[in-house]
Amino acid sequence: MKALILAGGKGAHLRPLALQTPKPIVPLANIPFLFFQIDRIKRAGITEIILSLSYQPRKIMDIFGDGTQYGVIIRYTHEEEPRGTAGAFKAAENLIDDTTLVLNGDVLTDTDLREVIQYHRGLGPEATIVTARVMNPAGYGLVEADAEGRVLSFTEKPAEDDVTGDTINAGIYVLEPSVLGRIQPTGPQSFEREIFPAMLHEGARVQAFLTRAYWQDIGSPAKYLEAHFGIMSGRVKLPAHPQRACPPNSWEKEQVSIDRFSILDGGCVIKPGVVIENSVLGEDCRVEEGALIRDSVIWSGTRIKPHAQIQRSILGRQCHVGEGARLRSGTVLGDKSIVSDYSIV
Ligand code: GDD
Ligand code: MG
Repeated sequence: MKALILAGGKGAHLRPLALQTPKPIVPLANIPFLFFQIDRIKRAGITEIILSLSYQPRKIMDIFGDGTQYGVIIRYTHEEEPRGTAGAFKAAENLIDDTTLVLNGDVLTDTDLREVIQYHRGLGPEATIVTARVMNPAGYGLVEADAEGRVLSFTEKPAEDDVTGDTINAGIYVLEPSVLGRIQPTGPQSFEREIFPAMLHEGARVQAFLTRAYWQDIGSPAKYLEAHFGIMSGRVKLPAHPQRACPPNSWEKEQVSIDRFSILDGGCVIKPGVVIENSVLGEDCRVEEGALIRDSVIWSGTRIKPHAQIQRSILGRQCHVGEGARLRSGTVLGDKSIVSDYSIV
């Protein structure tokens, strides 16, 4: 069996972070996101992976190459014009000859994909959709299923009045090749808005597999931050990831306070009096005297001047936060942003 990862979206809701870094490779705990998915797929015993790209494909291909470094075989499809989720699957038709695992390229989960595949094989539907329970289903695809897990309805991004349940499409499918026959050969088409509703309308068998494992998408800054909290709290495991040579971090242990949840990549310089709690810092960050970083994610090469305070914020690469500046909850800075001394954001 092969897996196909849908990784061609523009990541519009993750702007400004995804402007220079396409969403599939934004760092999660300093690891390009798709590593997490490749790792889960590998653990399910699948070693042939198709990456379906559209937006900034080069940057993604440069990282993953042909996959040998990670013990998998990676092939690519590339749409000049995005063809939507189903159109992207159709664009890979010549690489697909069997039942296929399809994943949205922005969901982080500990779901045992082997179990999902076994469930699909055991029941033999044309499609299995992994579902998850969430507090607020409005921004997702709402899935209704009967007691046996047979899907009754699929409503993408329901209006508030139409939110009848809490079970959503987790963005992971097992699809029979016959689904390809339902997708037009050209032009954009969506699984969620077109193909799944049409299949249900025609009475095709579609099963739901409800996951109870950790599940979180990273499609917006708040969710991206939430996924980091999932990792730092140990609710989701870090993937096996090829080690790279990192310069050592530099700080005097007695003079700084860095809690055990925080993750710092190599080459960071942390000055005395700094407090870092529940946060991730990328490579080569510099945090100066008395600064505070709490519940935040900071990408590589960023410089934080003395006594700055950063809470529940996300900072892109090579930002500069001035002395005494305060970044309050919800701040998101794109790469190379500059916050001047004593500013409040
Ligand atoms: N190749 C390709 N081409 N990939 C695409 C395209 C395209 O035209 N459009 C979207 N994708 C990829 C995105 O990169 C992402 O990984 C995945 O398909 C889903 O697209 P999103 O844009 O992230 O959709 P969403 O988050 O609004 O909703 C989807 O995910 C939810 C779960 O997080 C839907 O599948 C919902 O039903 C689901 O609940
Ligand atoms: Mg998404």
